[in-house]
Amino acid sequence: MARILITSAIPYINGIKHLGNLVGSQLPADLFARYNRARGHEVMFICATDEHGTPAELAAAKAGKPVAEYCAEMHEVQAEIARGFRLSFDHFGRSSSARNHHLTQHFAGVLAEQGLIREVTEKMIFSVDDNRFLPDRYIEGTCPNCGFDSARGDQCDNCTKQLDPTDLINPRSTVSGSTNLELRETKHLYLMQRALKDKLEAWIDSKSDWPILTTSIAKKWLNDGDGLQDRGITRDLHWGIPVKKGDQPWPGMEGKVFYVWFDAPIEYIAGTAEWADANGLGDEAWQRWWRTDKGASDVTYYQFMGKDNVPFHTLSFPATILGSGEPWKLVDYLKSFNYLNYDGGQFSTSRGRGVFMDQALSILPADYWRWWLLSHAPETSDAEFTWENFQASVNKDLADVLGNLVSRVTKFAKSKFGDAIPEGGEFGPQEAALIADLGARVREYETLMAQMEVRKAAAELRAIWVVGNEYLQSAAPWTVVKTDPERAQAMIRLSFNLIRLYAVLSSPFIPDAAQTMMTALGCADWSWPEDIAHAMRVLEAGHGFQVPENLFRKITDEERSDWQTRFAGKRD
Ligand code: MF3
Ligand code: ZN
Repeated sequence: MARILITSAIPYINGIKHLGNLVGSQLPADLFARYNRARGHEVMFICATDEHGTPAELAAAKAGKPVAEYCAEMHEVQAEIARGFRLSFDHFGRSSSARNHHLTQHFAGVLAEQGLIREVTEKMIFSVDDNRFLPDRYIEGTCPNCGFDSARGDQCDNCTKQLDPTDLINPRSTVSGSTNLELRETKHLYLMQRALKDKLEAWIDSKSDWPILTTSIAKKWLNDGDGLQDRGITRDLHWGIPVKKGDQPWPGMEGKVFYVWFDAPIEYIAGTAEWADANGLGDEAWQRWWRTDKGASDVTYYQFMGKDNVPFHTLSFPATILGSGEPWKLVDYLKSFNYLNYDGGQFSTSRGRGVFMDQALSILPADYWRWWLLSHAPETSDAEFTWENFQASVNKDLADVLGNLVSRVTKFAKSKFGDAIPEGGEFGPQEAALIADLGARVREYETLMAQMEVRKAAAELRAIWVVGNEYLQSAAPWTVVKTDPERAQAMIRLSFNLIRLYAVLSSPFIPDAAQTMMTALGCADWSWPEDIAHAMRVLEAGHGFQVPENLFRKITDEERSDWQTRFAGKRD
């Protein structure tokens, strides 16, 4: 049994996320967590809301609420939607938690002790009309790297380059739109990432098994001329974690807070501590996941995120960890995703374009979305959601292939043999061939799941469903029953075991349907099919069953076109 630590990038608190956000981090992380639990591994799966920084402040201001209140409410909203999508976090924490305050201040303190923090008095952009400094997203302008005209003060969304507000060309305030800006002196802390360049480079070079998408982004920012710069880790904002050196005040830094990207990844650790607190466990319970001197040396740590998050997880956060000189766990495998586009364009929060998580659940159950999103995960390139494709996948894969097998088998068995699995006949060559085929496919599925090849794993799972259907089609128990009822009974007995097999294998993708299948089988044996021949005999003759409700319904053409119109967003 392995010990597996999984974190998903923590979503910003400002509003409900769209399906592109979901498939870029939380959902594949959930798939991996569920799969590893199903294999009997010990899993710790942590996510949280990212509650500091300008996104939170700007959204709270827009909602006309105090920021603390806004965050508390939005955390609950996001937690509820996460439950709706069956995201199986062991804990869904908050980066504003006391645990994160404490740990963030701790890291800043030890980094200072290691001589890796310098205090810089510098001129920052101050908005005269807004009477405030304009860090990060409080300012927008043209990207000096790629020319994109809505680059933010902290990062360009177009080319992913990390920026400083003063890098922007033609800057403007996002609070008021004002361009009446001036430079004013203020003091900030800088993390001396440059001093850690060699360590970071050696560490990234040791990751030969990481996806190209991950290492290419990391190496680009490590080596491109001014790639790895010392980063300001404090801000002139009110909302956030007060700057302190451990639990001591930091002279000259009164009234300032840490930069959101400094404290957010630390919440992965703090979230695990929150989990321990919530479960009445002591510090050793979370430290055994994170401290290599306290039991975490046998933990394998996986991170999931969109590609725009990669620089922060390959450079900034590891700089915090490595620079601390303390034995904290570093990520072992970083799985990153491209973007999901929406119907010929981009998802747009401001224009309400595309499907957002709450809307998705209001029209169809979680499994429909989980299946489409995971089977089309944007792994090797950007992917696109279209309603035609969504309709076709749901109707074919889920309704025609999987749903149909379950309903055909249970209905036929009930009408011919009653409420229990029939006992007649023996498995023959047809069943042996199916078992051999399934055996090879299940091993392939395991390999792909372990490698987090999400799309390929979905394709293999679909192929596993298809072989079962083909078996049933060619064995045709409904015909055979007329001449050789015993033989038909053996086929049906196998088919019931096939349903159980599908429930177990499919549960990481479509947990609710898997549960419905198991409930119909009156079965609580979720054991993984280590041996397929054995797995085909778990449910024995005489075992009762029920015909389940339709597992999946089809999406009609009318619904498809209604939804297409409904989610098209406001026109420009
Ligand atoms: N909130 C960020 C985003 O949505 C992700 C933060 S991930 C963490 O892009 F590492 F900072 F936790
Ligand atoms: Zn750019």
